[in-house]
Amino acid sequence: MARTSSQERWLKFFNDVVYNALAPVYDGMDWLTLGAWWRLVRRAVDYVPPGGRVLEIGFGPGKLHAQLARRADVCVGLDLAWGMCQFTQRRLCRAELPSRIIRGSVFALPFPAGTFDAVVSTFAFSGFPNGQAAMSEMARITKRPGRVVLIDIGQPADGNRVGTFWAHLWEKMGDFLHDQPALMQASGLDMINFEEFGPGKHIRAVVGCKL
Ligand SMILES: C[S@@+](CC[C@H](N)C(=O)[O-])C[C@H]1O[C@@H](n2cnc3c(N)ncnc32)[C@H](O)[C@@H]1O
Repeated sequence: MARTSSQERWLKFFNDVVYNALAPVYDGMDWLTLGAWWRLVRRAVDYVPPGGRVLEIGFGPGKLHAQLARRADVCVGLDLAWGMCQFTQRRLCRAELPSRIIRGSVFALPFPAGTFDAVVSTFAFSGFPNGQAAMSEMARITKRPGRVVLIDIGQPADGNRVGTFWAHLWEKMGDFLHDQPALMQASGLDMINFEEFGPGKHIRAVVGCKL
């Protein structure tokens, strides 16, 4: 579905200002939400096996990325915003954690096919306008067997009012309510996990496996 012009303006504001210039402010979301945001994001760790080669896409201020870097054999992060790349690089340096930080886009991932055991993304996928193109790229660079782990928003399966309200609020802000399971299937991934949680169960953990 195409975005309206006001949704486009919101997204441009987030990409140009918040994600680029205000990484520390975005990092403060954990504090502002009394840790609730981090509790949603950190769920991703439960689905990423320790060790192996791990890529995180759209890592933002990098709190999850630091956890992944601690557990993976090789960790790589890719984000479109310079500000997020610099902020996360500093976070990793301070904690003496090894990870390669790359500025780039999900739509043209600079890796050969079958590079990673796990490709992880939290709350970034819903901002990608072409969900199928993004998912195909993520599946391409995943090893066989390997997995794609997403934590993101969606319409709650039971259609409850609270979750539907939250999901549509995100949509109004310019995000897309992608059907991640269908996109995974179309990209050759078998869905091995689908779990809903958060307010009105409008947050989901979707895990696809490349067999
Ligand atoms: C809502 S933030 C999520 C940050 C973090 N993962 C979290 O859960 O809090 C979305 C992130 O995706 C990044 N992003 C947006 N478009 C992207 C693209 N096309 N390719 C890679 N990253 C992108 C933004 O720069 C931003 O850091």
